[in-house]
Amino acid sequence: MDKVNFVILAAGKGTRMRSALPKVLHKLAGRSMLGHVVAAVESLGEAKKIIVTGHGAGQVEQQFKSPTTQFIQQKEQLGTGHAVQMAVPALCSDAVVIVLYGDVPLIRPATIEKILGMVTETTMGLLTIRLENPQGYGRIVRNSQHEITEIVEQKDASVEQLKITEVNTGVLALRSSQLRKWLPKITNNNAQGEYYLTDLVAIARAEGVKVVGVNPESATEVEGVNNRIQLSQLERAHQLQLAEHLMESGTSLADPARFDQRGDLNAGTDNFIDINCVFEGSVTLGNNVSIGANCHISNSTIGDGVAILPNTVIESAVVGDRAVIGPFARLRPGTELASDTKVGNFVETKKAVVGKGSKINHLSYVGDAQLGENVNVGAGTITCNYDGVNKHKTDLGDGVFVGSNSTLVAPIKVDMGGFIAAGSTVTSEVPSDSLAVGRAKQRNIKGWRRPTKKEV
Ligand code: UD1
Ligand code: CA
Repeated sequence: MDKVNFVILAAGKGTRMRSALPKVLHKLAGRSMLGHVVAAVESLGEAKKIIVTGHGAGQVEQQFKSPTTQFIQQKEQLGTGHAVQMAVPALCSDAVVIVLYGDVPLIRPATIEKILGMVTETTMGLLTIRLENPQGYGRIVRNSQHEITEIVEQKDASVEQLKITEVNTGVLALRSSQLRKWLPKITNNNAQGEYYLTDLVAIARAEGVKVVGVNPESATEVEGVNNRIQLSQLERAHQLQLAEHLMESGTSLADPARFDQRGDLNAGTDNFIDINCVFEGSVTLGNNVSIGANCHISNSTIGDGVAILPNTVIESAVVGDRAVIGPFARLRPGTELASDTKVGNFVETKKAVVGKGSKINHLSYVGDAQLGENVNVGAGTITCNYDGVNKHKTDLGDGVFVGSNSTLVAPIKVDMGGFIAAGSTVTSEVPSDSLAVGRAKQRNIKGWRRPTKKEV
């Protein structure tokens, strides 16, 4: 393919978003709209990107600066033709140029390639779509040979033209040299007093260049966002596509309408995901994983046969095969659970490496800890890993048993087979196969009487 320059229009204020944030930085599926467009472009290989900014230019530049990206400010928004004109000095003279939009986030790389494939010396590519309700869009006018002759904006269209249901998506591609030559011919002599990029189509025709229309695979690819309602609608449409993709690859969802993927989710087969689960960043699920309702899982790897029970939060963790987590468990970054482990309700782990078959079943905090195999951590156990200044490690050997309501004051080591009596505060190393009792001895006072109410 020829060298490609991508022009991405992102100058619009997005007044109807009613936001301090530039419109293109609003998020869809956890990533800014402009971020989606840039990712689609970058997936096609390294190429020059020119982002036309306007409102919130500084914020946009800060988020998207890269060695292959150039930013051009369009100080006044005089129309799409004017916006692209701003980018012309930055274009390579021998490139094919494609115009994309920062507020049309879901265009697929394959569709971009399809349009680019239409560009030759004598043809340009235009992405069009048929809509049941074409209201507001520029209409595609074709002649009796079905050739595209011009685009007429809604506000400039005749009653006859308004009946046309094939509309302009705004995405077009042509040679940089032609764009450079033709843009200056565009005037703002129209109903909106704007420089319409769409006028290129009639100019191309007049110059003997044929305009070839291509269609996207789905309408969501070309849907733009002007307000938060449209953003939420596009979000749901996109989530449904992600859900369907997941189901097609062998995972069952209790309700595809209550599923949210904000990043990459790689899943094996025969998994089940209950309602209201959110997946963020990069998440990998093995096979036969079951995830209960209301779980939030980010940047983690979950092994085969794992059961994640409802209301569990897992962040930057690795969970081994057949582990059972939750309900109401929280695995924080650096948690690594080996196979056949259990982390039960109201347990928080952080930087905890837990060996095969070990259990932390109830109400515990295990942080900066290393647990061997088959360790049992009783209910209410706390690793006191922080002295107010530094973090310290807790090290529990294979087969250690920690009785309920113990506090393990780190740095601390319990050797293999060590046993800690319930309610102990443990401050020094416990040798292997010994019992540590770190609590006041119980004494009973015989015949003790309860206090009685004083008379006033
Ligand atoms: C444009 C098309 C219309 C098409 C529709 C698809 C023109 C003249 N019309 O209309 O045929 O059906 O998109 O959604 O192109 N922008 C700038 N600078 C400007 C003007 C616009 O960056 O000076 C950006 C906007 O931020 C927006 C995009 O270009 O992202 C489209 O502009 P907008 O004014 O919304 O065009 P439409 O009237 O929707
Ligand atoms: Ca628009």
